[in-house]
Amino acid sequence: MTNDGVNAGRRRFLVAATSVVGGAGVVGASVPFVGSWFPSAKAKAAGAPVKVNVSKIEPGQQMIAEWRGQPVFIVHRTPEILSNLSMIGDRLSDPESKHSTQPPYVDPVVRSIKPQMLLLIGICTHLGCSPTFRPEVAPADLGKDWVGGYFCPCHGSHYDLAGRVYKAQPAPLNLPVPPHSYESDSIIVIGVDQEKAS
Ligand code: FES
Repeated sequence: MTNDGVNAGRRRFLVAATSVVGGAGVVGASVPFVGSWFPSAKAKAAGAPVKVNVSKIEPGQQMIAEWRGQPVFIVHRTPEILSNLSMIGDRLSDPESKHSTQPPYVDPVVRSIKPQMLLLIGICTHLGCSPTFRPEVAPADLGKDWVGGYFCPCHGSHYDLAGRVYKAQPAPLNLPVPPHSYESDSIIVIGVDQEKAS
């Protein structure tokens, strides 16, 4: 049961990664996978940094990159999303990310270098499924208090749009934030720390 769930989640990620082109343009959908930016398979296996052009991510939307064989969610957050983050702290397990993985140069609450651009390792901290991007406010299936976030389909963990896990979920920790830096306003380098970027 558990393994089936994990495998199902990984299948979902693979399917999403190869089929998102058809979903581009839909509000909240992922934009195309950034294959053309990837280094060689050999370099990726060695953990090479990955450069991503984030200029085409519309406000409120997400794209998915890949780094070290893991999905990296990149979300262009709107002012409304950012304002909601500050209002749900008491519903979260670790609102200031004291026990979660993120680089020291990332704000502990909004969990990013620039507030509007969020990067997360897209692997649930419970058993490794890939959570689903659910940016809508108060959708019928997630309830009137939902202000946008991630829902893990395997065992039902909920995260907000800073990757912070809600209280009383199967997942114990917030989604990790990968090391990253800005090469320019539109180019993010995943795998190179901001303080080491030239
Ligand atoms: S893998 Fe179990 S809730 Fe996400």
